Amino acid sequence: MAITKVGLAGLGYIGRKHLVQLRSLGLSVVTADPKLESADAEALGSTRHYADFQQLLVAEQPEAVVICLPTFMHRDSVIMALEHGSHVLVEKPFALCLPDIDDMMATAKKQGRRIMVAHVCRFMGQNIKAHELIDNGSLGCPVHFSAWRMSPTPMWSDKNWLGNASASGGTVMDFQIHDIDLACWLLGEPIEMALIKRQDSSRSGSGFFHAIGCLGFRSGVSASLDTGHLMPAGYPFTSGFRLVFDRGVLQCDMVGFNLTLKQYEDGVMTDLTGWYGDHYAERNPYRDESEHFLKCLESGTDFVVTTLEARQAVEVVLKLREHEILATRPPSDANPCHLLQPGTGS
Ligand SMILES: NC(=O)c1ccc[n+]([C@@H]2O[C@H](COP(=O)([O-])OP(=O)(O)OC[C@H]3O[C@@H](n4cnc5c(N)ncnc54)[C@H](O)[C@@H]3O)[C@@H](O)[C@H]2O)c1
Repeated sequence: MAITKVGLAGLGYIGRKHLVQLRSLGLSVVTADPKLESADAEALGSTRHYADFQQLLVAEQPEAVVICLPTFMHRDSVIMALEHGSHVLVEKPFALCLPDIDDMMATAKKQGRRIMVAHVCRFMGQNIKAHELIDNGSLGCPVHFSAWRMSPTPMWSDKNWLGNASASGGTVMDFQIHDIDLACWLLGEPIEMALIKRQDSSRSGSGFFHAIGCLGFRSGVSASLDTGHLMPAGYPFTSGFRLVFDRGVLQCDMVGFNLTLKQYEDGVMTDLTGWYGDHYAERNPYRDESEHFLKCLESGTDFVVTTLEARQAVEVVLKLREHEILATRPPSDANPCHLLQPGTGS
């Protein structure tokens, strides 16, 4: 039977995006967030609003819920929803540690309910094209994947939980995980890892830094993921990737909402930006993600993001941390730029 009503916990940055897209699918969306008055939530598109998520679950008994709460709250809220009989779409990252993930997966099994983790990049046309090129082998075998993702420091989060490394997991867990999941989806299981993290000692404990993650895959392919949460205000959100094959390259560059997608092979460049525009420009990956989640629930088919894959992405973050090189500014008050000029550094 078609699902017509969905619960939504957390109406912050990402919850509001989900609300708009869920409504565009024609669903009734009941919401919970203690920070919003009912009238404000309803103005955003909520059908009925609750201050408390558990109250929502008891009163509405939604068949499916979308969890858009701060990451440190994922475990308890997902388990509560499963125990009230709801299937769950939970925002990435799945959780901050593997025992929390295992608890959620065990509860889902016990309750006969399903969890999908919202790795939205799986629903973006440029990434689907990359996956297709690997599957059909038209450019040969993949050799190296490099991805980049840069944003000004996000300052929107509730009580700045994103800026607190113990609540968000930090830039690699919160932000680079998009590209970690993508790399694993495209290339398989990583077996070697290294991380360079750049953070001033004065910001120790902050969840915001620059990080370069390097992965070596069982297949012999390598990946480098360059991620920054410390770009200055006004810098456009920038992301992209270069997927090098033994007979060509697929490259995507996205600055703000402007995307270019190009394929290079045997001295010929094919501009796929028009293909992207024809197939994806009018679509919204958050909408496609929710639609996929609901269709899979209705039909009993597999999610494109499995819980084991989402668990693997978190596991890779935790292993990267074990192989971290921390680059900091020298502790002296000397201008560190002097160290770049021969003869002036000590
Ligand atoms: N897929 C993406 O592109 C993407 C982007 C941003 C954030 N995220 C993820 O989404 C999650 C939320 O991030 P955000 O940036 O929206 O955070 P946010 O701080 O903007 O929003 C969190 C909301 O949860 C509410 N909240 C807190 N406790 C609550 C409770 N007990 N019941 C109901 N609501 C409660 C807060 O009031 C706030 O409105 C995180 O896991 C984050 O990693 C994903």
